[in-house]
Amino acid sequence: MTTRVGVIGATGAVGQRLIQLLDPHPDFEIAALTASPASAGKDYSEAAKWRVDTPIPEDVADITVVETDPEEVPDDVDLVFSSLPSSVGAEVEPTFVEDGYVVSSNSSNGRMDDDIPLTIPEVNPDHLGLIEVQRDERGWDGALIKNPNCSTITFVPTIAALDEFGVERVHVATLQAVSGAGYSGVTSMEIIDNAIPHIGGEAEKMETESRKLLGAFDGAEVSLHDADVSASCNRIPTIDGHLENVWADLSEDPTVEEVADAMRDLPSVDLHSSPDQLIEVFEDPMRPQPRMDRMLGDGMSVAAGGIEATPHGVQYNCLAHNTIRGAAGASVLNGELLLEEGYI
Ligand SMILES: NC(=O)c1ccc[n+]([C@@H]2O[C@H](COP(=O)([O-])OP(=O)(O)OC[C@H]3O[C@@H](n4cnc5c(N)ncnc54)[C@H](OP(=O)(O)O)[C@@H]3O)[C@@H](O)[C@H]2O)c1
Repeated sequence: MTTRVGVIGATGAVGQRLIQLLDPHPDFEIAALTASPASAGKDYSEAAKWRVDTPIPEDVADITVVETDPEEVPDDVDLVFSSLPSSVGAEVEPTFVEDGYVVSSNSSNGRMDDDIPLTIPEVNPDHLGLIEVQRDERGWDGALIKNPNCSTITFVPTIAALDEFGVERVHVATLQAVSGAGYSGVTSMEIIDNAIPHIGGEAEKMETESRKLLGAFDGAEVSLHDADVSASCNRIPTIDGHLENVWADLSEDPTVEEVADAMRDLPSVDLHSSPDQLIEVFEDPMRPQPRMDRMLGDGMSVAAGGIEATPHGVQYNCLAHNTIRGAAGASVLNGELLLEEGYI
């Protein structure tokens, strides 16, 4: 039996990716689509300026988009994927959860709240236990779970792999694709022939979310990982795929080969959307590159390369597809984990 799902904020960059991934999904069936009042009442094909690389699914094109309100979503929908702007998500997501829906959300609101799981299934699936804490504290029937920011999700699996060598400090500089800013985010006049050396709020998300993801959950709360993380975030004119340069200071002194093996050996999980190989490691220092490598593992793998020793640890580059592994695919994977763990 399939689980009936809704997508709130279904017409945007992440919403369209969600529909691309959910339509053929064996466990989920799209039953409701919501967006802003300007889109409500229109067929999805009219409301969404479809821009993803496969045709709009026929059975989704005719669905009428409704307002983003739990009253508008059928009661037999059990799981809701959220790709709303965070200001809207902060207001609306709790109303869905209060009504009993389980919400797997991309939006940044609440990611650092003590009782909200911020989860990458291959890195910290146990943090899902925070759902019991949020139900106790907030009296919610449903549940709210978040996936991290797209630039956070790109480097965190590689740091999880390095943890056995004692990660003390991480510096990360990003080269981020324009799709990360959403469809109305960066104009062509701003980005063509250019690079923008600041993305508002992004560095702080990487610095805090990474420490929560890598932190330990004791059944009641998550203690943040004690590594210092500092980030610098840059926008460049690629369409999809965030490339990142990482410097990690380690308490131990592994060889380059040991670091590469630790990354290759980081286990994936047995969920429909998880890739067979979570981290693909290249020997060629010219890889990974966004255009060549963003679709590894159907867009769900992280790619790494250019690993070199430094006086304090290692440096390397990593890459992930920001609207698949970094957003829609991450939410779907969290939905699969919720299903597997019996929260739906
Ligand atoms: N893009 C990425 O790579 C990425 C990665 C990770 C996380 N995220 C996060 O995911 C969320 C969505 O990002 P996006 O890039 O998909 O944004 P987007 O392209 O701007 O899409 C926003 C969606 O929210 C809807 N919406 C806007 N205002 C609304 C309102 N007042 N009430 C109800 N619905 C409203 C829009 O509907 P209309 O079409 O009707 O306006 C659209 O469906 C954001 O919180 C973002 O930070 C994005």
